[in-house]
Amino acid sequence: MPAESSQTFCAEWKPESILERADWSRIFGRVAPVEIDYGCGEGAFLIAQAQKNPERNFLATERLVGRVEKVCRAAERLGLNHVRVLRMENAYTAQFLVPPESVATVYVSFPDPWPKRAHQARRLVQPEFIDSVREGMQRGGELRLKTDDLPYFQWMEKVMASAKGWQREEWVEDEGYPITNFETRFIAQGLPIHRSLYRKI
Ligand SMILES: C[S@@+](CC[C@H](N)C(=O)[O-])C[C@H]1O[C@@H](n2cnc3c(N)ncnc32)[C@H](O)[C@@H]1O
Repeated sequence: MPAESSQTFCAEWKPESILERADWSRIFGRVAPVEIDYGCGEGAFLIAQAQKNPERNFLATERLVGRVEKVCRAAERLGLNHVRVLRMENAYTAQFLVPPESVATVYVSFPDPWPKRAHQARRLVQPEFIDSVREGMQRGGELRLKTDDLPYFQWMEKVMASAKGWQREEWVEDEGYPITNFETRFIAQGLPIHRSLYRKI
């Protein structure tokens, strides 16, 4: 069981130093497989995944303070003391805060698509980000990418095709697989959801 009680627990992880890599066992108070949700938004997916998987540790990153606070409140209210939320830039977290070969699963769900050509350099899925994700991942770990935006999905596929050390696998979702806040909106609008799963080899 996670070490802290839901009474005293604070879900926000505020690193003492952003120049040192995370010590997961200290942050979560136990050793367990770590899953990261980059850009968690309002956290519906994260919270549901954490409820379904109490034996795993969950870190979410998010840059907007209001969203960080909302996700923290939900985790604290539900006593999910195996959840931590970090207000931090995604790529910085992957490159500088995640220890090597320490993460089991990474989710990148509906990242901002930045459709204008001039803005595409702002997309999260870039070769450098994918290399950082791979460095932080244990062998056999999973990267799950999801978007409603077909051009961004094609971009993701291109980045992954050039990235070394990944194997594409089929993404099988059981009925109870949680969906994200944005996914709920996109499904309601009848938009197709594009997804791909890559395993670190
Ligand atoms: C389109 S929303 C998707 C949110 C969530 N994954 C979902 O599917 O509902 C993208 C989220 O990523 C966050 N975000 C965008 N750029 C970021 C960055 N560089 N670092 C951290 N979070 C970022 C945004 O604030 C927003 O909450």
